[in-house]
Amino acid sequence: MERQHTADVLIVGAGAAGLAAALRIADRARVLVLSKDGIEGGSTNRAQGGIAAVMHPRDSVARHVRDTIQAGAGLCDPEIVQFVVERGPDAIRRLLEYGLTLDREGADFHLTREGGHTRRRVLHVADRTGKAIETTLVDRALAHPNIALLTDRLAIDVITAEKFGFSPNRVLGAYVYNRTTEAVELVRAPHVVLATGGASKVYLYTSNPDGATGDGIAMAWRAGCRVGNMEFNQFHPTCLYHPEARSFLISEAVRGEGGRLLLPDGEPFMDRFDPRGELASRDVVARAIDHEIKRLGVDCVFLDISHRSRDFIESHFPTIHARCLSVGIDIARDPIPVVPAAHYTCGGVVVDRSGATDVEGLYAIGETACTGLHGANRLASNSLLECMVLAESAAERILEAMAGAPTDAPDLPAWDESRVTDSDEDVVLAHNWLELRRFMWDYVGIVRTDKRLERAWHRIELLKQEVHDYYANHRVSPDLIELRNLIHVAELMVRCARSRRESRGLHYTLDYPATGARALPSVLYPTVDPLDVLQPPARAARRRRAKS
Ligand code: FAD
Ligand code: SIN
Repeated sequence: MERQHTADVLIVGAGAAGLAAALRIADRARVLVLSKDGIEGGSTNRAQGGIAAVMHPRDSVARHVRDTIQAGAGLCDPEIVQFVVERGPDAIRRLLEYGLTLDREGADFHLTREGGHTRRRVLHVADRTGKAIETTLVDRALAHPNIALLTDRLAIDVITAEKFGFSPNRVLGAYVYNRTTEAVELVRAPHVVLATGGASKVYLYTSNPDGATGDGIAMAWRAGCRVGNMEFNQFHPTCLYHPEARSFLISEAVRGEGGRLLLPDGEPFMDRFDPRGELASRDVVARAIDHEIKRLGVDCVFLDISHRSRDFIESHFPTIHARCLSVGIDIARDPIPVVPAAHYTCGGVVVDRSGATDVEGLYAIGETACTGLHGANRLASNSLLECMVLAESAAERILEAMAGAPTDAPDLPAWDESRVTDSDEDVVLAHNWLELRRFMWDYVGIVRTDKRLERAWHRIELLKQEVHDYYANHRVSPDLIELRNLIHVAELMVRCARSRRESRGLHYTLDYPATGARALPSVLYPTVDPLDVLQPPARAARRRRAKS
């Protein structure tokens, strides 16, 4: 199998963001798209509620902007919010042009409602909007002669000129682990887009797929990019609580369509926490549920939609209905046991409105990026919107850059495994994975304190040392690559959380419960980390240069 690839543009990630960008670029350039799992392994494929956009005459851009900023608790960048929301209708038209069929009500789109939206504005395909979008984009990408889509390819790190001592600094490609051959491949590309999704797998309980290990954020950080707002991890209030359910999401649209949250004795409680009740923003609802669970010492609360007709439930929520039924819960009759779980990474790689990072030629889009749209708390269904809009603007910027003078690419060395040995203690990796996810859940969860963050910090330092040693001396494996990324991401989250001495949006700490007067984003500037050993190939290149 080929161990070297060349492309005009390398896109790491085949979710909504990556594929939408590929389709906008491919008419004019050769695009290589990677996914580390099967073709539909990302979060996009799981999205339920829908995609928010202003598509009704009674709605307005100003109102969607206001709702987004209100949810973001003072930290949204108003210019980015305006930019994304204004382009929402075009993003929807693009999806329709690609062949997506959205639910309709007569001649109009059917719009559902979710927390924090003051209008019905969420377009959807029943409760499987993400799957419909992913399938549409995948079909288009597979049919495009200029797009090569490689699955089971796990990007390890992006290659920058600086890593090999070349200047000026810019991105040159990436090293990629092929799960089938277990070999590391070299991809040369002058433009690299990180569209690897979020990092919620850093928590023990999450609505996200296994691959949500923050790879793009960790890779960009190691490449020298700023990362921001990592303390704002969104916990979705309602995931199915059942031993066989693995935090299956119960869409916020269930509350949008009248679902009530109840305590085990049947008492509604959300009105005690917020006048918007069940449709308060996600941070408020998740905290209220967490509070009630801890106050009463119960395992879960309940979400009840049984007052709606069976027909309505089966047509609006077929996926949720079927999944719950598979574990013995008939949601047309029974309340659904629910708990919060980690759901969305609001922070990420700091980018501009074209997804450009601090490294020339390197872009980040979708959940990997921190554009300023979500601030301290994302408004429901704004993520798919952001994926589509930023994919488009990044594609435009890349095509413009490609129209300029071609960049000379230096010779890049293949991955060098001559100085490492086979991993001898895989069990250590498995234990470290579990330990990290458990203490992140316990200490960096919905409610934080200085002491809990400090505990997490000490444990991260220890794990980091261990995993870096392991990485420097052993042949890479998917578990090792992902664990290394998760540890970097956990460190970034805790650093941001420790530096925020207030509660704001999704970051709530008992030590500073009030919201400060000034709203400032957390921005981390990359520094040289002595523990971050150079990769084997970089060492080899340096040796070769020293000899010549
Ligand atoms: P993803 O769709 O997560 O795709 C990531 C891609 O990157 C995958 O192809 C993966 O294989 C690949 N990848 C990752 N790391 C590597 C690597 N190292 N090398 C190679 N490939 C890699 N948002 C909404 O707006 N509306 C909703 O209704 C909604 N519902 C949701 C329901 C659930 C259960 C979940 C989990 C999320 C939901 N979200 C929703 C959030 C939204 O789905 C995601 O934020 C969005 O789909 C992310 O898209 P993406 O393209 O950035 O990444
Ligand atoms: C949901 O359907 O509740 C998820 C929506 C989102 O995460 O935006």
